[in-house]
Amino acid sequence: MKPFLITTAIDYTNAPPHIGHAYEKILADVLARYQRQQGREVFFLTGVDQHGQKVQQSAEREGIAPQEFADRVSEKFLSLWKTLGISYDAWAATTAPLHKAAVQRILNDLKERDWLYKATYSGHYSVRQEQFLTDKERGPDGEFGPEWGEVILLNEENWYFRLSKCSEWLHGFLETRKDFVTPDFRQTELKNAASKITGDLCISRPKSRLEWGIELPFDTGFVTYVWFDALINYISFAGYGVAGSSFETLWPADHHVIGKDILIPAHGVYWPCMLHAMGFSDEQMPHLLVHGFWSLRGEKVSKSTGNVVDPTALAESYGTTALRYYLMRDAVMGRDADFSEERLLLRHNTELGNGLGNLVNRTLSMTRRYREGSPKSVPLPEDLSAHRSADVESMRSFVTQMDAAQIHAGIETMVDLVNRANALVESSAPWKLAKDPEQADRLDAVLATLILSARAAATLLLPVAPDAATEILRQLSLDPAAIAGEIVVEDLPEGYVCGEPIPVFPRLELPVVEDAAA
Ligand code: MSP
Repeated sequence: MKPFLITTAIDYTNAPPHIGHAYEKILADVLARYQRQQGREVFFLTGVDQHGQKVQQSAEREGIAPQEFADRVSEKFLSLWKTLGISYDAWAATTAPLHKAAVQRILNDLKERDWLYKATYSGHYSVRQEQFLTDKERGPDGEFGPEWGEVILLNEENWYFRLSKCSEWLHGFLETRKDFVTPDFRQTELKNAASKITGDLCISRPKSRLEWGIELPFDTGFVTYVWFDALINYISFAGYGVAGSSFETLWPADHHVIGKDILIPAHGVYWPCMLHAMGFSDEQMPHLLVHGFWSLRGEKVSKSTGNVVDPTALAESYGTTALRYYLMRDAVMGRDADFSEERLLLRHNTELGNGLGNLVNRTLSMTRRYREGSPKSVPLPEDLSAHRSADVESMRSFVTQMDAAQIHAGIETMVDLVNRANALVESSAPWKLAKDPEQADRLDAVLATLILSARAAATLLLPVAPDAATEILRQLSLDPAAIAGEIVVEDLPEGYVCGEPIPVFPRLELPVVEDAAA
């Protein structure tokens, strides 16, 4: 069976990670862990985008070499992914020799097959922003605004990729491959936008303007445009063109996880056209999974406005479990979300602490108190048999939701399952059953049912909060429930003895802000 390939956008190394970067990697990690839970072999690739003007400029400001600057920022990403438990299998850093060799091979091949040509472009050029300007950048008065600084007329020779040669193919492809982009509304957006993109793609920068990039193998006065270089990471680090690699069985990506800002034109137009030109068939095009954006107090997360949320600090204050859970729970797949520390705490304290944590604690305490950890196996009364079937139904729904990358919905299924189990605790009142010898069998059946519900909930929580879920399963003394293939109602194993309850979700509080006036 083809390994499940998950890739994410590679993060720019001009600035440290913010909450948006953390969200994307957690999202991809949850999907990777879910697929592994399904028994699939997974290859999860992520990394850093180290070339380009932004990195060169940031390095210049600090007076250090671009490689040193990129390495320093890459370290911050690596350390955050370790803290957050991102279980990637390969690391794509675009300054790696393997990647550089792949990019140059691809450029040579495209040039040989006449997909590339050199031409002179004349146009308005912003010296401050170091980019050519088009009429789109003109203000309502027809002038280029002060944000562009000095604007000059520039003639520049560059290399171009014949993007226009692909437009007909792309149009047909977007019509027929309905599942190229998830969610659907993004594919519609892409279709509308793609038809308006005309002309060819400039894929080089003269070294006089930008040195920090991969040199064109056939014209050494130029480096490769950063997007052309970066997109290739998805195949270069999956072994494309390397003799003996498993690329052929690995490709295409099952989830190509990206944010909505880089769908058009980079991933939705340039990338499929690049692959098409390289000779990839329509069936070999990746599946794009496009997520929304996190904002803070309704404003864009941006370093320049100081509107950033530092995921490293959040993980330190509240722990990885709370952070992963909140980000996956509060963002509906594909939609935007607004970050709030209060909501992070609320989700953790209510759904995990009062909900699942409480269920596990009560269940284990009562099982130990009334049955020394071992409920007897007894025939199930109808209401409890229905409860177990409902849990199995929840597990089936979870699988359908996670197969469709609807993580928020999968979590909701887990929350419903926990609520149902906590309601069973209240309605069955084991503390009353324990006082009535005639209800001994019912008490055994209730406790076993609650233990199995707690196991089902922990199983569904595993991809999102692996540490907490694993700890719950340890306390329950159970392996995760089987949720791959046909999901059936199970019983406790013979000789079962539960473990000791230890709180897994300690209550979180907002830090106390010292009153400066006091
Ligand atoms: N380097 C390019 C991607 C190249 S992929 C061949 C890039 N880097 S980035 O650092 O700006 O963004 C990395 C990823 O983070 C992108 O998928 C982007 O959409 C995502 N996000 C950046 N800000 C975000 C939010 N505020 N919220 C959610 N995701 C965000 O683009």
